[in-house]
Amino acid sequence: MTDSELLARADAVADRAYAPYSDFRVGCAVLTRTGDVIEGVNVENAAFPLGVCAERTAFARAVAEGHRPGDFVAAAITASPCGGCRQWLLEMRVERVVFRNESRVVTMSPQDLLPESFELHPA
Ligand code: THU
Repeated sequence: MTDSELLARADAVADRAYAPYSDFRVGCAVLTRTGDVIEGVNVENAAFPLGVCAERTAFARAVAEGHRPGDFVAAAITASPCGGCRQWLLEMRVERVVFRNESRVVTMSPQDLLPESFELHPA
């Protein structure tokens, strides 16, 4: 699957977002090394901070299906990932992140998206 095909999957799934408060629908499609594509959308809540981003629903779903950090080749997102989702992308060790930003399509590594990042190294 090419990056543009993966982004097309993100574009398509964005229609299923639940975003009645912002009316800003986001889709995310994640490609695993085994060729699986796992999709996510943002799901908002009347208690605003409880809403979840498309990226996090996609990765939570992937982990629930048995995938682990390091299993991910690419994540395609219909919007530029927020700061918190950049931390998730880093944690999941995705190779590359492809996202729409205004009229451009940008490809970056999680490290470049989140320089000088926080990482916990348990004793
Ligand atoms: N949103 C995402 O789903 N992903 C991001 O990385 C940026 C923001 C969602 C959260 C909220 O439902 C809406 O976009 C407006 O912020």
